[in-house]
Amino acid sequence: MKKKNPTSIIGSRTARSDALAKVCGTEKFVADYMYDGMLHVAVIRSPVPHGELQGSNRRELEAMPGVVAVLFAEDIPGKNCIPVVLSDMPCLATGNVLYVGEPVGLIGAETPEAARKACAAARLDIRPLPAITDPEKSRDENAPKLYGDENVFTHLVMRSGDVQTAFQKASVIVEGTYRTPYQEHAYLEPQGMIATPEGDGAMKVTGSMQCPFYVQDAVAQVLGLPLAKVRIVQSTTGGAFGGKEDVPSFVATQAALVAHATGRSARLIYSREEDITTTSKRHPAVLHYRTAADKKGNLLAVEADYILDGGAYTTLSPVVLWRSIVHSVGPYRCPNIKVDARAVATNRVPCGAFRGFGSPQVLFAVESQMDRLADELGIEPAEFRRRNLLKSGDKTSTGQVLKDSVGSHQTLENALSAAGKAPEKKVSSSKRAGRGISTIFYGVGLGAGGEHLARTGATVQILRDGSAVFSVGTTEMGQGMRTALGQIVAEALGIPFERVQMTATDTSRVPDSGPTVASRATTMSGNALLSACKPIRETLFAVAAPLLNTTTDKLKLTQGQIESPSKTIPLQDVIDECFQRRENLAAEGWYRVEGTTFDKSTGQGDAYVTYAWSTNVVDIEVDTETGVVEVKRIFAAHDVGRAVNVSGVEGQIEGGSVQGMGYALMEDILSEDGVIRNPQFSTYIIPTAVDTPEIKPVIVEVPFEGGPFGAKGFGEQPLMGIAPAIANAISDAVGVRINELPLTPERVFAALNQKNKNED
Ligand code: MOS
Repeated sequence: MKKKNPTSIIGSRTARSDALAKVCGTEKFVADYMYDGMLHVAVIRSPVPHGELQGSNRRELEAMPGVVAVLFAEDIPGKNCIPVVLSDMPCLATGNVLYVGEPVGLIGAETPEAARKACAAARLDIRPLPAITDPEKSRDENAPKLYGDENVFTHLVMRSGDVQTAFQKASVIVEGTYRTPYQEHAYLEPQGMIATPEGDGAMKVTGSMQCPFYVQDAVAQVLGLPLAKVRIVQSTTGGAFGGKEDVPSFVATQAALVAHATGRSARLIYSREEDITTTSKRHPAVLHYRTAADKKGNLLAVEADYILDGGAYTTLSPVVLWRSIVHSVGPYRCPNIKVDARAVATNRVPCGAFRGFGSPQVLFAVESQMDRLADELGIEPAEFRRRNLLKSGDKTSTGQVLKDSVGSHQTLENALSAAGKAPEKKVSSSKRAGRGISTIFYGVGLGAGGEHLARTGATVQILRDGSAVFSVGTTEMGQGMRTALGQIVAEALGIPFERVQMTATDTSRVPDSGPTVASRATTMSGNALLSACKPIRETLFAVAAPLLNTTTDKLKLTQGQIESPSKTIPLQDVIDECFQRRENLAAEGWYRVEGTTFDKSTGQGDAYVTYAWSTNVVDIEVDTETGVVEVKRIFAAHDVGRAVNVSGVEGQIEGGSVQGMGYALMEDILSEDGVIRNPQFSTYIIPTAVDTPEIKPVIVEVPFEGGPFGAKGFGEQPLMGIAPAIANAISDAVGVRINELPLTPERVFAALNQKNKNED
């Protein structure tokens, strides 16, 4: 690996520029803005999982004190549709309602109380229809038809080799059915938007979001306005994790409809209960896997058939399913593959994006199967993975030949050596210790499933005093993008990080840059910024060269100065000279990804430009008397290409590990007959600081040629391998294998009881 420049700001531990205001509580979020004359919006929602809408008490609501507007589907001036992948979801229901909490009408009122009161007084006439509330029954012959002939939003396949022959030749075969639950994003800040009518019939919407260009598209379609008349400005966003990928489009249209109908600003802030009940979550999954190996421990075949519960509308399910199938064999060489994946329709809340985007579900099954195979073969789990883990030059399950930045084995070896010797099994009379491992990979960026969106714009300018300002089309949502991108601009222009400023992300400042998802912001916006910095650097060099009596090719830009082999000149002098001569120190940058492919009939192709690799080693203790699992230590090794901000990468590892622990051990949405029973943080339990174990981040850097300074994007990966590593650790500690998440004390206790019974 190339030696790093010790003074470089890339790879440093730069403090986040937004940290202080957030930690001190002075940062303003959308709910902190209140203007005179502003209306407050409340959403009238379906109380039933499936039914035919027949009417409402609209006139009564309109006469209520403080109510200014009551809107239903017939009042929508544009298209009654939220554009996501297939655009089957209406903005306000018309005809049938398909899930509890589906938006049906809107109230705009002078005060939040008046809006809430009117909403509570709303009476919808609905003829109830039979509902599908169990995803495993969605494809039953007699199930009500919600989508197409079979209630399948998308069916994807992966085919390679000859699975049948491989299973006949195999020495060991393991088979299992795995179940994974909903996961709620639990971002600190609930969904919220403020819509404000602007001059010339334009609409501005500000709020909490990941994807301003999606919001712009939705608002324009629903209001029937040209895109040019819709401006979206992201406000400081308090967490998202995928939950603010498509959902803010719904929230923004709800606020914008009231603003458009009344000509007044309209503010809509979801309550926590409304947010948990009605917005997207991680897809529950039921996964059936058969996996085979030869006696030397080479993986021979994977056969899988699984469903994801898409909920009532397609929203993002087709692309979540796509990412899941690309990851459905794990990061291993496997010559024979047959996978069928379906996203099915139910009368439940539409599921969507969540950190990992369909891969945590399949990776739980894959990594559990790998441990079971290792066990049958009598090979250590780490050694079994070492034999099968992809390396540079190998073909992935989609037939893609891996070229650069394949740090898979380094993450395995570095995590193992960081972890050292496994703890003694017996901790006390009732407690047993165990160690579990998982090795995973993650396609970075949108990949072939979203290549048409894989573009980004940026603008950069150096100001007269030598400071710099930049704009990008991707968003900061708490992940640290502002800081990482600020470092990239600071490094490229030789300007101190503290003098570089990012503007709020605003659709009027940069061209449509696609969504901020898929761990793509640092690489995509980073590359766009570097492309903007290039002509600025050329101008600086062209002006500096005569001042240094040399040619531009001899020059180097370092922090605060331009150097020739014999002399240096302060950067500020060159900037002054540029302004004297009226040179342009502002530029636009652009970046797009090309070359990904995917054949839908076989599931083969170059799915992603590159992959991130990671190994988790987890030490736990199981209390055999209570079934309680305590995570003691997590050793998390991640190949990130290049860590732009070391503290940022470590922060992602720590946060993602804990969010993965929640998925593994405790998080569970209780949905009965399509009704979510625990929509509060008092009943939907997530891990807190008290549950946080010792987490040891291990950063591996195998540079990615296509990324800024070798970075390949990092955000989602730390969550994905935690659940299977914990399940594997439980099996190591007490010899029971649990195939259903979360691994609650009840489930562990029941499995231990079952095991004791079997042994008696
Ligand atoms: Mo992210 S789960 O790709 O919004």
